[in-house]
Amino acid sequence: MDTLYKYISEHSTPQTEALEWIEKQTHIRTNHARMLTGPVQGRFLKMLAGALSPARILEIGTFTGYSAVCLAMALPEDGHLDTLEVNDELEELILEGFSRAGLEKKISLVTGDAKETLAGLRKEILEDGTRQKYDMAYIDADKREYPEYYRLVFDMIRDGGYILADNVLWDGKVCQSPLPRDRQTQGIAEFNDMVAADPRVESVILPVRDGLNLIRKLGQDV
Ligand SMILES: C[S@@+](CC[C@H](N)C(=O)[O-])C[C@H]1O[C@@H](n2cnc3c(N)ncnc32)[C@H](O)[C@@H]1O
Repeated sequence: MDTLYKYISEHSTPQTEALEWIEKQTHIRTNHARMLTGPVQGRFLKMLAGALSPARILEIGTFTGYSAVCLAMALPEDGHLDTLEVNDELEELILEGFSRAGLEKKISLVTGDAKETLAGLRKEILEDGTRQKYDMAYIDADKREYPEYYRLVFDMIRDGGYILADNVLWDGKVCQSPLPRDRQTQGIAEFNDMVAADPRVESVILPVRDGLNLIRKLGQDV
C-alpha cells in the first residue's frame, strides 16, 4: 500500500465486517483481487449513492460483490440493485457476501454476458414496460465495451439519473500520446470522448483511485 493511500485509508471510515469478509475471501479465492473496488472507493460509492438517493441501481461487473454491497447499503427500504456478471464461478462467494451484509433481498445477481443481459433488461424497460427505468448505473466490466455499455444503458436511465464509470483514467494511459493501441485503453478513451461530446449529459471525471466518470443524464424536466 503506498503512503498516500495508507493515510487516506486510515482517515476514512473503515469498511464494515461484511465488506472485510468479501475483501478477504476475494484474496483467498480469486487471482484478481486488484479488481476489487476496495474500502476507500467503496465508502465513496456508498456516500455518493446516499447523496444522490437512487431507488433502483444497475451495476455492470459484479466481480465478488464489493461495490454492489457498497451501493446497496445506501438504498432505501424498498430500493433494489441489479448486478451483472459473466463469471458464474463467483456466484457462491457473491451470494454469501450479500447475505452477510444483510442485503440478499435488495440485490439481484444476473449471470451472463452483460451485452446480452442488458438487452433483456432493456426490452423489459423500453418495450414490455414491465420494469422501471434505473436511477443510477455503475459501469465496471469489460473496458473494451464501455462505449457499447453506454449506448445500451443510456435509455434505461431516467432523466436526471446518473451513470458512474470506473477506471476511466486506466492508470494514466488515456492521456498518453500517442494513445496505446490495446483495446482496453482504446475502449475507455473512446468512452470518455463520447461522454465529453454528448450534449445530453453533464459530466465530470473524478480522480478517485483509477478515475470515476460521473455523468448526469439531462432531459426535458432536468
Ligand atoms: C473490475 S471487476 C468489477 C469489480 C466490482 N465492481 C467491485 O468493485 O468489486 C470487472 C468484472 O466484470 C466482469 N465482466 C467482464 N466482462 C464481462 C461481460 N462481458 N459481462 C459481464 N461481466 C463481465 C468480470 O468477470 C469482472 O468480475
